[in-house]
Amino acid sequence: MTLLDVRNLTVTYAGGAAAVRGVDLRLDAGRKLGLAGESGCGKSTLALALLRLLPAGTRITGEVLLDGEDVLAMKWGRVRAVRWAGASVVFQGAMHSLNAVHRIGDQIAEPILLHRKATAAGAKRKTGELLEQVGLPAARADAYPHELSGGQRQRVMIAMALACDPRLIIADEPTTALDVMIQAQILRLIEQLVADQDLGLVMISHDLAVLADTCDRLAVMYAGRVVEEGPARQVYEDARHPYARALAAAFPRIGDAASRFAPRGLAGDPPDPAALPSGCTFHPRCPVALESCPEEDPVLRAAGPERRAACVLVGPPGAEAGARRAAADPEPRAKGSAGTPGALVKRPVGEPGALERRSAEEPGALEKRPAGTRGAGEQRSAGTPGAGEQRPAGEPETLEEARPSTP
Ligand SMILES: Nc1ncnc2c1ncn2[C@@H]1O[C@H](COP(=O)(O)OP(=O)(O)OP(=O)(O)O)[C@@H](O)[C@H]1O
Ligand code: SF4
Ligand SMILES: [Mg+2]
Repeated sequence: MTLLDVRNLTVTYAGGAAAVRGVDLRLDAGRKLGLAGESGCGKSTLALALLRLLPAGTRITGEVLLDGEDVLAMKWGRVRAVRWAGASVVFQGAMHSLNAVHRIGDQIAEPILLHRKATAAGAKRKTGELLEQVGLPAARADAYPHELSGGQRQRVMIAMALACDPRLIIADEPTTALDVMIQAQILRLIEQLVADQDLGLVMISHDLAVLADTCDRLAVMYAGRVVEEGPARQVYEDARHPYARALAAAFPRIGDAASRFAPRGLAGDPPDPAALPSGCTFHPRCPVALESCPEEDPVLRAAGPERRAACVLVGPPGAEAGARRAAADPEPRAKGSAGTPGALVKRPVGEPGALERRSAEEPGALEKRPAGTRGAGEQRSAGTPGAGEQRPAGEPETLEEARPSTP
């Protein structure tokens, strides 16, 4: 059954930065979805939007269906109940998220007391169980955060995320800043918890290799959009979108001497979400961009079994060759290929071409819309109440604030 169904999620910060733009994602219980992409592509924004943890004034549209219930349409009381108990977040930089002046046992017990209405003795017992579940002795409940190593603190954060038996865990860079041995331990721990408790996991990282190793499916984001999505190993080893390919190629692979001695990177910087390039937002950095790419805004389309990618070069077998031939040919011979599946017609800017004609008939084909305008899905959800606007004055904005202060 679908545990999380994100539909056309769009997040715009108060200053106008479109950090997430029309994202669709699905996750079943017991499965692990990886979310990758360069710094600033919108991973954390997406994660925080799932539980409406973004600052007031942030505009969120679309749907976030958690077990079929739309988190974005919930009243605040219901949102508070869903946080921790329905879904919980292991925050980015979790090692610094613990309160330095409270014992870790008290910090883990807080949501149990608050959400489960447990007695003090019951919360203490559950805290001990949780610590042991993440590989720490129950007696460490009396420790202060500074008495633990980085890996142990990360385990405490995972124990906290599990405190109210959530169905979904969103882990934002849970192993960043940990050494490789501890990273491997934490990843195995997360995998085991997901399998044992039939949880859903959304794991965020810029490290494709880690996600490919841990997750079932992988979504690669660029400039607020998912540009490729599919089975994790396939996306990592044989990415179809040029950006996902570049990201995967940036990681040297064991046994591949070429990648060790000539690691490939990607020139240029990620775009400013407040001033995105026209057409395909990747075109200024794309090593294989076509002349039409500054105008075409490709949506996700089928890129193989259970795979999707948002690039004009992606399509049925032969699409890339056909597209390149057509783009390289200045003669109107391209007209003759308009009916060829996957062909791309090079044409003057603004003139309707084969792609648009095909999109009227073929599911998954490209839709063209003028740069800067909103797509159909975004328009559909423009009236959906967002999170920031709904939060009454004084309502907590983060899980940390939602917790009562411990005496
Ligand atoms: N509170 C905010 N107000 C305005 N813009 C923001 C805010 N938080 C993030 N942004 C912008 O939104 C974009 C996405 O940020 P986000 O933190 O989601 O990126 P990320 O993919 O998680 O990056 P990283 O890998 O560095 O954690 C960035 O351009 C960032 O500057
Ligand atoms: S649509 Fe064009 S610019 Fe965008 S990734 Fe594909 S080839 Fe590159
Ligand atoms: Mg982040």
